[in-house]
Order: sequence, then structure tokens, then C-alpha cells
Amino acid sequence: MTVVGEGLWVGLDVGTQGTKGIVLDAASATIVARASQSYGLIEGLPAGAAEQHPETWIDAVRHVCSELVMQVDASRVAGLGISGQQHGFVPLDDDGAVIRPAKLWCDTATSVEAEELSRMYGRSVPTGFTASKILWLKRHEPENWSRLRTILLPHDYVNFRLTDTFTMEAGDASGTGFFDSASRMFDLHEVSAIDPRVCDMLPELVGAGEPAGRLSSEGAALVGLPEGTLVSAGGGDNMMSAIGSGATRPGVVVVSLGTSGTVFCHASKPVVDPEGLIAPFCDSTGGWLPLLCVMNLTGVTEEVRNAFLPHVDDAYEQLTGAAEAVPPGCDGLLWLPYLQGERVPDLPSATGTLLGMRPGLLTGGHLFRAALEGTSLNLAWGVERMRDLGISVDGVRLVGGAARNPLWRSVLSACLDAPVTVLEEPESGALGGALQALWTARRDAGEDVGIDDLAAPLVATEGDPVSPDRELVGVYRDLLVRFREDVERLF
Ligand code: XUL
Repeated sequence: MTVVGEGLWVGLDVGTQGTKGIVLDAASATIVARASQSYGLIEGLPAGAAEQHPETWIDAVRHVCSELVMQVDASRVAGLGISGQQHGFVPLDDDGAVIRPAKLWCDTATSVEAEELSRMYGRSVPTGFTASKILWLKRHEPENWSRLRTILLPHDYVNFRLTDTFTMEAGDASGTGFFDSASRMFDLHEVSAIDPRVCDMLPELVGAGEPAGRLSSEGAALVGLPEGTLVSAGGGDNMMSAIGSGATRPGVVVVSLGTSGTVFCHASKPVVDPEGLIAPFCDSTGGWLPLLCVMNLTGVTEEVRNAFLPHVDDAYEQLTGAAEAVPPGCDGLLWLPYLQGERVPDLPSATGTLLGMRPGLLTGGHLFRAALEGTSLNLAWGVERMRDLGISVDGVRLVGGAARNPLWRSVLSACLDAPVTVLEEPESGALGGALQALWTARRDAGEDVGIDDLAAPLVATEGDPVSPDRELVGVYRDLLVRFREDVERLF
């Protein structure tokens, strides 16, 4: 691999199910440390609500960094970059204290407000985006609303705790729902439609490749690194994953199999879907990132694991083995996988529905296969929309934890009718954080270097692309027709 720089670079991906961290040694192009911590959502909330307390993320950042710095010479760390779950609404008061837990990207309790905003803005504002969460707070929690002074997104909040400054960057900001992706600015008209006060609650935007700040003394104590260490702008997890998976140039399409399922690619100008199904995001390098997001992915297989093999270490291997023994098409069992509503298709109130249940099919193998097939068909349906918008999906790079599952890979490749390539580093969000920090530091030092020139040599693929089995492609093409008809009939 090409030698691109010196020093160690920390990348942290603060996700919905946990925080993952890596340390990249740029000179040797190797990951020299890794650590992670899992956590869950707040339990016992009303249907549709999905919330986490930002302190959960901070505790995880502290824990993960303490493990990372034990594995390396911390004095060699030259910068860090934060990737965070998109869209979450972190409400802060006058003192910068968190007013209430953050409503997350997968919270569908604000669908009424999202519909209202869609009518006001004259375009679709998906329920998961931040805007409807802010309107919801104003409507439902007037006392908390009256204390609100600053609005941050999850990664901005981590940046704030590290640098003591409020910032946002265009990639994550484009997931608020009131951002003009073309000009990379907030649409203040749309912002003030929620409430004129909101215009003063948004932090300063930092440009791609500019630092969010430097570690404050509290931030330095939090992560165990020297005060003054550079913190890059960071970004939403999909934006950072794009950097860490090589989607920094046109033509690279990435499928991320995590808590959400996303499909995205770099674009040199905004891609706008008039139906609002494909999000017109900015990326975190100065370009754009048309993106499909489905809300139901690993949460669905996790339900099967919890029901059939709870607390078993190799549960996923066992269930995958059992699912491999079930024929494609799952003996007629079809799972419309909308356990927590869905963003694409736009069905925030849908529920998961199992169709075709017959005697003998209520087995772990059948349900696991039905989960892989249902989620993959749902993604494939969304990818048809991307293709309609002129995005070619002729081959995909797979990232995220579930990319390691060989059965999921082959089902997905057949559903998309596209060869898949796996990346050496599945934690593309964390790697993206480290790479963005390296890029920002080099720019900060006056060097005119492009992110793609710098990052692409450090993003390695594992083996050659694997083409889909033609017979499977035919099975899933027919099944997708049934899937769409059933969804349209039922919801
Ligand atoms: C993208 C989205 C999800 C979250 C998951 O629009 O909502 O992918 O970013 O963390």
C-alpha cells in the first residue's frame, strides 16, 4: 500500500447499538488498535419512540478510548474524527446541559409532525429526520421547549464534549430536513417555519476538511489524549462510512448492513429525488451523497436470535447454518420486515408481517432465512428507485457487521443482481473518522490534498467481487414482485 503520512489517527463511530473505535497508523496503512462498547435504547418507551441519553455515548467514548490508548503510544496520536448516527436531536439548555434524551433516527413517534412539515415545505420530510423531532418537542414538552437553546446532532454533541465548541458540518446537517444541500446552508425559511427561535439555536457550520476544534482539557481527560489534539469536523455515520469505504469518487456504490441498511455513492452534484425516497445528502468531503436508508436490518435478525438462541455465543453461525438448509424462497414464508415502521417505503406506522406460515415453518432456520430475504428484498426495492434516478448499481461494496455473513451476502447480491465486494475493514465509519482527521491535519498544515487521493489507497478490498448466482437472481426477481404487491395491499 502507498505510504501517505505519519502519525496515528483515531476514528470513533458512535452508533445506535454501540461505539466502535480504531487507531490507524497511516505510514504502515494498518489498524493498530480497536475497541468497542455496546449499549441499547432506553426501554419501556411508548410504541415508535427510540431514544438514548447522550451520556450513554460519552461513557462509551470514554471506555473505548481508554482501551485504544492502552494499545498504542498515545503521544503519537495526531488527530481524531467522530462518526455518529445521523438525525438524532440533542437538545441543550443555556449551560450546554442535555435537556432530555435524544430522539434517534429510528424514532417514528413524530410521524404526525413529519407529515405537517412535508405539507408546509411542499416536499417529503421523512419522519426519521431531525426537523419533526424539534416540532414534536415544541408541541409535546413545552417546559423542555422553553429551556431549549442549542440543537446538536449526535456527533456534534461528542465534538462539543471534546472541543467545547458547538459546530455542525454539511453532511450531517443535510439530515436535519431543513438544509439546502445545493448551497450547503440551512434553509432559514424552513427552519423558522418550525419556530423563528430555532434559527438562533443552530451552531456554526464548519466546512469539509476544516477542524471542529482541538481537544479541550475536559475533552483530553475524556479520551486520554493530549490537550490541543486536532478534532476533525466528523460527520454522520453514512458520510464517514463513505470515506472509509472508498465512496469518495464517482462509481463506487456502498451497501452498509448495520442497524439500518443504507445504499449510497459519491456524487459531484446534488441528486434530488422528487418523491423524497432517496435522500439528497451532502457528504463530509465537499461532495454529495444520494442515499437510500431502510430502518429494518440487523434488528430483524436480532429478534430471531433473541427468540431462538438467546445468550448463545455462536447463535448467528448456528442460525445461518440452519437457514442455509432452507431453500431460497423459504418454502413460501415471506417476512415484510417493518418491525419499527419503515422510511423507504414511507410507512412509519407499518408493523412486521409474516406471510405464508404453514405447519413446520416456525423454525429458527426458516425465520432467519425469511429475515435475510425480507430485508434484502426491501433494500432491492429501494435500489430500483436509485436506478430510476440514474444511479448505476452495477457492483457494490459491502460494509457493516452483517457484511461478514456469507448467506446474507449471497441473498443480497442476488436480490440486487450485482456483484459484491467485501472490504478488509468492516468498520468503515470509524476508519472514515480516522481518514478525515488525517486529511484535515494535512490541509491544516497547508497541503492541498484531496480526500480521495489520500483515502483510496488506505481502503482495501478483500478478494475479488463475487457475482450473483443466476438461478437465485430469478427466484428473488419473482419474489420481489410478490413482496411489493403484499406491501402495497397491506399498508
Ligand atoms: C440514514 C439513517 C441511518 C442512521 C443510522 O439516513 O437514518 O443510517 O444514520 O445510524
